[in-house]
Amino acid sequence: MTLLNVLQFPDSKLRKKADPVSVVDDSVRKIVDDMFETMYHQGGVGLAAIQVNIQKRIIVMDVSENHSAPLCVINPEIISREGIQHEAEGCLSFPGVYETVERAAKIRLKALDRQGETFEMDAEGILAICIQHEMDHLQGILFVDHLSRLKQERAQKKLQKLKRRELT
Ligand code: NI
Repeated sequence: MTLLNVLQFPDSKLRKKADPVSVVDDSVRKIVDDMFETMYHQGGVGLAAIQVNIQKRIIVMDVSENHSAPLCVINPEIISREGIQHEAEGCLSFPGVYETVERAAKIRLKALDRQGETFEMDAEGILAICIQHEMDHLQGILFVDHLSRLKQERAQKKLQKLKRRELT
C-alpha cells in the first residue's frame, strides 16, 4: 500500500468535481486501500478521493476509536435526509481547524461497496456528518463553505497561524 499526499486548502484541486466510477475493479480497490492507509496514518475519520487528487466518487471512512469500522462507499447518493444536527467538524485538508456545521441528523445512503455491489444503509450522528462532509468534497465543496463569512475568515486566520508555526 502507498501513502497518498493529501491536498491542503487553498489548493484549487480541492474544487474539482469527481466523476462516477464506471467499474469497480482492482485499480479502484488499490485506490481504496491506499486511501484507508492514508486516512489512518493521518488520524482522520474520513477521506474523499478528491483530497488525494483523484477525481472519482470514492470515499473511505472509519468513525470508530480503534479502526474497527472501515466503510468504503463508491458513487454514493443520499436518498433521504431527516432532521438537523450541529457538530464541530475538522478536515484533513484543514489541519487544526474545527468549526460547527449544520447537517442532516439522519440520512439513508445508496452506494457501491468495494466489490461493486449496490447497498443501502442508514446513518446518524457522527457517521451521518462524516458521509455528508465527504460527499461535499466530491462536488468540490469544503466544510468552511457552509460557514458565515466571519467564521470563514476566522478559520483561514487559524490555518495561516498554524502554517507559520510549522515554518518556524
Ligand atoms: Ni474534509
